[in-house]
Amino acid sequence: MDYNAQYQAYLNTAETALAQQADRCFNERSRVCEAARYSLFGGGKRVRAVLCLAVCDMLNGNRNAAACYAAGVEMLHCYSLIHDDLPCMDNDDMRRGRPSCHKAFGEATALLAGDTLLTAAFETLSGSPGTAVQNTAAVCALSRAAGANGMVWGQELDLAFEEKPATAEELREVHRNKTGMLINAAAQLGAVAASADDIQRQAIARYAFSVGLVFQIIDDILDVTATAQQLGKPIGSDTANGKTTFVTLHGVERSRGIAQELTDGACGVLRAAFGGRAQFLETLAASLLERNQ
Ligand code: IPE
Ligand code: IPE
Ligand code: MG
Ligand code: MG
Ligand code: MG
Repeated sequence: MDYNAQYQAYLNTAETALAQQADRCFNERSRVCEAARYSLFGGGKRVRAVLCLAVCDMLNGNRNAAACYAAGVEMLHCYSLIHDDLPCMDNDDMRRGRPSCHKAFGEATALLAGDTLLTAAFETLSGSPGTAVQNTAAVCALSRAAGANGMVWGQELDLAFEEKPATAEELREVHRNKTGMLINAAAQLGAVAASADDIQRQAIARYAFSVGLVFQIIDDILDVTATAQQLGKPIGSDTANGKTTFVTLHGVERSRGIAQELTDGACGVLRAAFGGRAQFLETLAASLLERNQ
């Protein structure tokens, strides 16, 4: 299968798993769940799901387990976006080409929709057809990556640096936590579905943290170079909030150069560890560097 066909197949797997898990976890009578569905479906690149499924495939793992893990990580990611857009955080009115959750449903419902997705993510992981050992490892990996030593910490730092400028080193810490941790968790969940060993997991982490940093560098660049229509979210949000970004520190051109170097490094690590089986993930890393949405 060529890269595009494989990517589409992974997307289909992710969408099917998400639909099944939403039916299982949500409450049909609930307006909060309607808001959660609104944010979860009808948009989103599903990069984290694809990473999870592709790592599992590279290691010949249990695809059914990985499909549940992929759905769980996308639910958790979606919660982070709903809360990230709230007026008390980035105050953004558009997401995935539509009014953000709080614009469509009000702030209290959006807050609870985020809570519902966060909780449903772990219900989904723990109910996966993986073994009990795998599912426990999956819950452990995602909770650590999303919490006080991961994404939440990154978001806390991100807000703190609205009040004062960040140094280059501090900005890398923000990006590693707010974005890299979840991207790495997605890849590690694929590794869990394949019961990967420590050496394999370390190579995957080196790849994923580099790809995660590239992902946020490109996000920072697109905030100043893309159109809102392309992105499906407002542009200029970082400037409006006084954020230090890769663009404010290094400019667009140097930021692209750094992203290219990180991508080359990430692909090299994966090729050395997994040879030709790393091909899809190498192409994925290259395409995330070129993305314009
Ligand atoms: C947006 O993530 C938030 C960042 C970490 C930059 P994505 O760009 O993956 O958003 P969706 O899921 O495609 O909407
Ligand atoms: C988001 O970073 C990181 C999250 C944990 C959601 P951004 O605030 O830059 O993401 P966008 O640009 O709003 O998607
Ligand atoms: Mg933010
Ligand atoms: Mg934001
Ligand atoms: Mg951004």
